[in-house]
Amino acid sequence: MSQPTIESILQEQRLFSPPTDLAAQAEIKSLAEYEQLYAQAEADPQAFWAELAEKELEWFEKWDTVLDWQPPFAKWFVGGKLNITYNCLDRHLKTWRRNKAALIWEGEPGDSRTLTYAQLHREVCQAANVLKQLGVSKGDRVGIYMPMVPEAAIAMLACARIGAPHTVVFGGFSAEAVKDRLNDAEAKLVITADGGFRKDKAVPLKAAVDQALANNGAPSVQNVLVVQRTQADITMENGRDHWWHELIATASADCPPEPMDSEDMLFILYTSGTTGRPKGVVHTTGGYNLYTHMTCKWAFDLKDTDVYWCTADVGWITGHSYIVYGPLSNGATSLMYEGAPRTSNPGCFWDVVEKYGVNIFYTAPTAIRAFIKLGNQHPQARDLSSLRVLGTVGEPINPEAWIWYQQVIGGGQCPIIDTWWQTETGGFMITPLPGATPTKPGSATRPFPGILADVVDLDGNPVADNDGGYLVIRHPWPSMMRTVYGDDDRFRRTYWEHIPPKDGNYVYFAGDGVRRDEDGYFWIMGRVDDVINVSGHRLGTMEIESALVSHPAVAEAAVVGRPDDLKGEDVCAFVTLEHTHSPNDDLKTELKQHVVNEIGAIARPGEIRFADALPKTRSGKIIRRFLRNLASGEDIAGDASTMEDQSVLEKLRQGS
Ligand code: PRX
Repeated sequence: MSQPTIESILQEQRLFSPPTDLAAQAEIKSLAEYEQLYAQAEADPQAFWAELAEKELEWFEKWDTVLDWQPPFAKWFVGGKLNITYNCLDRHLKTWRRNKAALIWEGEPGDSRTLTYAQLHREVCQAANVLKQLGVSKGDRVGIYMPMVPEAAIAMLACARIGAPHTVVFGGFSAEAVKDRLNDAEAKLVITADGGFRKDKAVPLKAAVDQALANNGAPSVQNVLVVQRTQADITMENGRDHWWHELIATASADCPPEPMDSEDMLFILYTSGTTGRPKGVVHTTGGYNLYTHMTCKWAFDLKDTDVYWCTADVGWITGHSYIVYGPLSNGATSLMYEGAPRTSNPGCFWDVVEKYGVNIFYTAPTAIRAFIKLGNQHPQARDLSSLRVLGTVGEPINPEAWIWYQQVIGGGQCPIIDTWWQTETGGFMITPLPGATPTKPGSATRPFPGILADVVDLDGNPVADNDGGYLVIRHPWPSMMRTVYGDDDRFRRTYWEHIPPKDGNYVYFAGDGVRRDEDGYFWIMGRVDDVINVSGHRLGTMEIESALVSHPAVAEAAVVGRPDDLKGEDVCAFVTLEHTHSPNDDLKTELKQHVVNEIGAIARPGEIRFADALPKTRSGKIIRRFLRNLASGEDIAGDASTMEDQSVLEKLRQGS
C-alpha cells in the first residue's frame, strides 16, 4: 500500500454521503449550501472574505482595502489592525470560554497538563514579557526548536503577542539545518528545550542549538531560552542561555497585544523546494488569521464542546494552522500529544482518544498505514465512539487506507476529511465539508469556498475532465504566502512563472499533478517537481544530494523517491565515489548517517546504491526519470538514445 495508483482509485468507486445527523447540525448542511457559498465567493471573492473578516474576527482598526493585488504580490485587509493572539486568547476571556480548556497536553511518558484560556493567556503574556526583557521587539525574528510541549505553542503565541515573527524549526532537524534557518531568518533569540520524549527515548535539543551556535555559527542570535523537559544534563552558557521557568516565575502577566498591521509578518516557515536551499515561506497576520479560522471551523465542523486533536508537530505548517492558530481563534479545545505511534505502545493514540473523548481527529496517511500494520486489535480494544470527524493530510491517501480509517477508526460513522494544502497556502484548499460533501476514497474532493482551483497544462490551458494536469489556483486567497523571505524573485519564479500568465492573469502553481473528474472532484497525484514526500514530510532531492556530496568520499549523487508501503515514498540515492574510496556497506551506513547529521533523521536515505556513473544527457544533465524507474524496480521507460553513454544504464540495472 503506497501512493494511490490509478488502478486502485478506479477500483474504488464508492461514494459516501455525509451522515444525516451530522449534516443536520453542521455549519454547512448540504451540498447545495456549499455550492451556493462557492458560487457567491467566486462571483465576488472580496465581498465574501470581507464579510467573514468582519463577522469572525476582532479588529483594532478596520481595513481600508480588502485586497491589493499586484501580481504576484497580494495584500489583504490593507490598513486593518489586529493581533492574532487577541483573537486566539483575549476575546475568549470575555465569554464563558475563559475557563474552558484551550490546550490539553499529553506527554509521551504519561504526564499531562490542561491549560484553560485564562491560564494560557497568562502564560503567553508572561513569556512575551520575558522576550521583551531579553531585548526582542516588534519585527525581530525568533527561532523556536522545541519538542511537543505546551511551551512550544506558548512560545509561538508570545512572539505573535509582541509582533516578533517566529520561525519554528521541527525538532527532528539536525544542528546544521537549525543553523541554516537561524541564519537565513537572522533570528535574534532561540527558544528551545533540554530535550523531548519521542519513541521511548529522551531526544536532545539544546545540544543541537549549542552546536549550531558554536564558533559564531549564527551571529545574529544573542540569547537562548531553555525549557526544562527531560532533565538532561546540558550546558548553560553564562549570559547567553536562560532557563524559561526561572524568567517566567518573575515575569508580569500584563502584556497588551501589539497592534499589528494586517500585512505585518506573523511567521516564517522553511520548506523544501526544487533547488538546494529550503525557502522561508512568509505568512502575514490578518489574512492568515481569517483563513485558518474559517477552514478550521467549516472543514472540521468544529463545535464548542469538541475536543479536537491534530497529531502533527508544531514544527510543520499543520501544527501552526491547525494545532495553534485555527483552533484557538475558534475558542476550541486543542489537544497536543508529545509521542508518536510506536511498537512498544501500539494503542497509545487510541488511549488518548478514549481518555479525553476526542471528537475530531486529524492525522497523516503514513500514520494510518502504521496503525494498520500495528493491528486492528488496538483500536478495537478502546472506546472510540466519541469520534465524529476524521481528517487526513500530507500526501495522497490510498483508498485502502481511507476505507480502513473510515471503518475501523470511524466505525463507518465519521466523514473522512482529506485536506489538500501546503506550507505555502497556509490553510486547506481542497477539502470536503463534513455535513455537505459526499466523499470518494482517495479524493480531496472540492475546493473550499473562495478557492478557484483548476487543472491546466504547462501552457496554462485548461485540460479536459479526467485528463491529468497541473494544479493551479486562479485567484489570491487570504492566507497565501506573501513571498520567500528575502527573495521576492525566487517567489515569483517558483510559483508564478512556471505557467506563463495570460493577459496579465497570474496563476499560482502548486507543484502537484492532479486529475479532476466529471463531478469536479480533485485527485491529487503527487509532486511534479524534485520534491519527495517521505511520511508526509517534504524533502528536496537537491537538499539531500548537497548533503551527500559534502562527504569527502562522494563524487556525485542523485536522489529520487521510490514507492514505499509505509512512508508513501522513501529516499533512494545513487552515488558515485571519488577514486580514493571504494564501495562497501560501512560506507553506505556512514553516508546515511552523514545525511542525518546534515539535515535530520527524516532525510535518512532508505537505500544507497553505488554506481560507476550516472545516466546523463549529452549536455550533462542527470536523467532522473531513469533513476526513478531503477529505484522502483520498473523497466526503463522512454527513449534512452539521448544518453551520452548507453552502457551506464546497463551497469546500473545489473548492479541493482
Ligand atoms: O504534494 C502535496 C502533499 O504535500 C505537499 C505540501 O507539503 P507541505 O508544504 O509540507 O504541507 C503538508 C501539510 C499541508 C503538497 O504539495 N499533500 C498535502 N496534503 C495532501 C497532499 N497530497 C495529497 N493529498 C493531500 N491531502
